[in-house]
This record gives sequence, structure tokens and C-alpha cells, in this order.
Amino acid sequence: MKKDVFLIGSGQTRFGEWWEKSVRDLLYEAVDSALESSPCTALDIDMVIVANMIAERTNGQAHLGALASSLLPHNPPALRVESACASGAVALHTACGLLESGRAKNILVVGVEKMTDVPTAEVSSALMGAADSEKDAPSGLTFPGIFGLIAQSYMHEHNLTRERLNTVSATHHRNAMENPFAQFRREIPAEKISQSAPVADPLCMLDCSPVSDGAAACILSTEKESDVKIAASQLATDAVSLTERENITSFSATKQAMEKALEEADVDRSNISHLEVHDCFSIAAVINMEDLGFAEPGKGIELYEQKEPVPSINASGGLKACGHPVAATGIKQIIDVSKQLRNSGNRWGLTQNFGGACASCGIHILEHTHV
Ligand code: COA
Repeated sequence: MKKDVFLIGSGQTRFGEWWEKSVRDLLYEAVDSALESSPCTALDIDMVIVANMIAERTNGQAHLGALASSLLPHNPPALRVESACASGAVALHTACGLLESGRAKNILVVGVEKMTDVPTAEVSSALMGAADSEKDAPSGLTFPGIFGLIAQSYMHEHNLTRERLNTVSATHHRNAMENPFAQFRREIPAEKISQSAPVADPLCMLDCSPVSDGAAACILSTEKESDVKIAASQLATDAVSLTERENITSFSATKQAMEKALEEADVDRSNISHLEVHDCFSIAAVINMEDLGFAEPGKGIELYEQKEPVPSINASGGLKACGHPVAATGIKQIIDVSKQLRNSGNRWGLTQNFGGACASCGIHILEHTHV
């Protein structure tokens, strides 16, 4: 990073089904709690960046930059960022660039999504905007279908059994029991995962992240300091359509973003203690572990089979159990890793947030400076 960018405040709503709250209400709750936790006042915010993917489709609401800015007394300049489910990470990356350039000193980054106002079929269709509308969508695929294909291919290539894959969601549900902001806070035995309703073979309902409402906000600053800073902020992209990929059992955008992030933070991956990764579907979590370099190809599941994996993986409950209001996720991951670093006293943590079938990927490395 060209300048020290500190995480000086953060807050989120609980993720879940919030029928009685509007997009504005969710934004307000997250922003208010982020400001409350920070040493700055609303008037110190000189820019607002909103991450959102599908509010036009689910809530008839565009123009979210101005909407969020109007929650502050002085209506600071604002913009909206969209990069499918990676919108949160891309908004954070945009904020880092503006802070590093000196254009702003304190930026409020807030991700919001309110998905449960419309039926699942409508949400699925809106989410397919993250895929290739000419090359993937006409076949009738949805995102569970895309990751069903990826899971089929991975299980065939690496002899992964359906039973072993159950460990991923079971672990995430267990982790979420301690998280008051998680959508689902109940333990689910591993065997129940593959007994849940089939969605897109071999994936069942409990392999899928749910449809969720929620918002998460961070305040990033070059003016005020805190004990957690952003040591790296990197993005990478890949072909949007699966038909243009050489391989669908590994995601090159994760690999590229990870290499660049490790170099930027000047840290070895073996020193990273906490991970929050993008487990939109159980198979994605396995692939992520390999692409991030914590497991050899075909061995990602072994990390989930360890009692206490090092580094910790989705101690929050991940997307599966916390919920996945898509554009809020990348920002919520930063909040979780910062809490984990403060609780453990460890120095390094990492978030990986991707969009589509990892056609865009954002990786942030956080450093706890008071260790
Ligand atoms: N995990 C756990 N429980 C879930 C769930 C999930 N993924 N999805 C729904 N449920 C629960 C609901 O809370 C509800 O429980 P209740 O009866 O106690 O209230 C019940 O299951 C039925 O929910 P419903 O909303 O009718 O489910 P659905 O069949 O409409 O949707 C999925 C289920 C899996 C299809 C939907 O969650 C989905 O599409 N997930 C993927 C979202 C996605 O693609 N995100 C982008 C990733 S790239």
C-alpha cells in the first residue's frame, strides 16, 4: 500500500430475512454502528462508497450512492460499485485507491442487499447477471447449477465423495453458533447436508449460501489510526463464461489476486492466522483453500477435516451460515477478520470475496499492528 490505511470503524446488521426493513433502514443501521465504533464523527467522512449488485431488481432502487450519502448530515460525495458478489471487495479496493491518492482521508464503505422481497426465482434470475448472458444463461443455468457443474467436475477429477463434502457446511453452521450476526445459528450434523433438498446435483440446499438481507459498513482512514490496517488490497479477473475457462475446478483470479496480495503485504501465507473466504457453495470453499495455496489440488477438504485448522477458516460461519446479502459480504468479511485478529492477538488475516464463478476476485490482507 502506498499509504497506511486504517480500519477505524465498522458495523453491520444481522444478516437474515428483514421484511420490515427497507434498503435505507439496513444502510442506516450499519452506517450508524460503524460511526459509533469509530473515533470520527459523521462530518469527518469525506466520501461514501456503496457496494450493491441487484437493488434495481429486488427493490426498485438505484442511485444508492446518493441514498447512503443522505444519511449523513453533510451529504458527502458518493458513488456505487457493482462487481456481482465481489462488489464489497471492489468497493473496499476503490476506497483504498482514493485514500492512497490523497483524494479522501476518511471513507465510509457500505455494502447492502435486500434480496428477500422477491421470490427465489426472481433473485436467481437477477444473480445470473453475474454470469455470461450470451454464453451461460441461455442453457437455463442458475448459480446453483453453475456450481453443481463445478462440483461434479471436481468430485470426478479428485475422487471427492459426497460424504466428505458435507464437512464444509457442517463446519460453517457450527462456527456460526457463536456469531450473533449470523442468519442461521444452529448446528447441523454433517450427514444432514446431503439429505437436504436436492438443488443442482450433487449440491443440496445445505450446500448453498442462502438468500439474505443485510448491510455491513467499514470506515477506512489515512487520517486517524487504529490497531488494524489494510496491508494489501488486490483484485484479479477471469473470463465470465465457464465456456471460456481452461479449467473449472480451480479459479485463476483467486491465485493471481493472492500472489499480488502476499507481495503487497510482504507476508508469507504461512503467517496468516485467520481466513474468511467466499463459500457461496460448499465446493467453492474447497477450491478456495487450494487456490489460496493452503492445500494442494484435490486436498482442500482435508483442512475442513482437521479439528482446529490453521489458519482458521470462516470462523464467523461464512456465507453459508451467516447469510449472503451479496454486496455486503466482502465488507462483512473484513469486520469478521478484524474481530478475530483483535481477539487472538495474531498479526495477519485475509479475506477472499469473489463474484460469479470467480470471474472477479478481491483479496484483502489485514494486519493487526499492536501485537
Ligand atoms: N441454507 C439453510 N437454510 C435455508 C437455505 C440455505 N441455503 N435456503 C433456505 N433455507 C431455509 C429457509 O430459511 C426456510 O426455512 P423456514 O421454513 O424455517 O423459514 C426454508 O429453508 C425454505 O426456504 P425457501 O426460501 O423457500 O428456500 P428456496 O427453496 O426458495 O431457496 C435455495 C433455497 C438454496 C435455492 C436458495 O437459498 C438459493 O438460491 N441459494 C443460492 C443463492 C445464490 O446463488 N447466491 C449467489 C451465490 S454466487
